[in-house]
Order: sequence, then structure tokens, then C-alpha cells
Amino acid sequence: AAGGVPITLRVNGKPHALTVEARVTLLDALRERLDLTGAKKGCDRGECGACTVHVDGRRVKSCLTLAVMQEGREITTVEGLARDGRLHPVQEAFIRHDAFQCGACTSGQVMSAVAVIDEGHAGSVDEIREWMSGNLCRCAVYPNIVAAVRDAAKEKRP
Ligand code: FES
Ligand code: FES
Repeated sequence: AAGGVPITLRVNGKPHALTVEARVTLLDALRERLDLTGAKKGCDRGECGACTVHVDGRRVKSCLTLAVMQEGREITTVEGLARDGRLHPVQEAFIRHDAFQCGACTSGQVMSAVAVIDEGHAGSVDEIREWMSGNLCRCAVYPNIVAAVRDAAKEKRP
């Protein structure tokens, strides 16, 4: 398209060269240009957390940030969590605890949970609730989500 900006997005360890319009969000670039549809478009305005990914290890609502700003950064999506054919421990905990119903919020919840645990904010139920509060679940499986995050956080401790 006219006026496109050439960028390289590093996603899940791989570089992708593409040309995007300056106003394209990271979420749309991931979903529509790179076919990485794990990050979901819920509200598209920063309110639901379904689009959560990691940028340089920190969680970001990808509907709120522009693709052109991600040059040189490391982006991780839910597709990049599994290693050597094994799900991430947080993904396993979500399955064990039945922490999803329709699944629309799940990849965002998982990406948030991974960051919350890494940042050391998963020490108690209240703490998990507070730090996960940017991720909404219309099916309201919150108790299961919190239980999954707690479990995964414990497992991680040495
Ligand atoms: Fe990004 Fe809802 S789609 S916060
Ligand atoms: Fe349906 Fe969370 S599982 S919105």
C-alpha cells in the first residue's frame, strides 16, 4: 500500500520483514499479516486483555500499540510458549484447573499469567486477582484461572 513503512518484527524468535501502514496495530499485524491468531481481538481498545502478548518480556495489550514501534524488540505470542513439543507450565495448569470455557480470553490470560509469575506478583490469591485484573473473562471462570496461576507459580519456585 502507498505510504507503507518497511519493518522487521521479531516474533517468537523469528524475524518477519513486512510493510505496514503507520497506523496498523501490533495485534492486526500479528493476526492479519503473520497469521498468528492466538492473540484475540476482543474490545480492540485496551479494555479486555484478550490481545496480550509480551514485548521484551513485558506484557503489552497489542491492540494499543503500533506495529511500527516494535522494530528491534522481541515479541512473544501464545504460539511461542510451547518448547520442544511441551506446553508451557502455565498452559498445563490452565488445562488441569479447567481455567477456560469459550477460550476467547484464554491466550491473553495465559500471557498475562506468565508475566505476572515472572515478575513475582503471584504470591497470593489477592495478588493474582489484582495483577490479572486487566484480563476480563466473560465466562467468569476467574476462580479456576486464579487457581491455575497459583499452581503454576508454586511449581516454578525452586
Ligand atoms: Fe486489546 Fe481488548 S483487544 S485489550
Ligand atoms: Fe470465555 Fe474467558 S473463557 S471469556
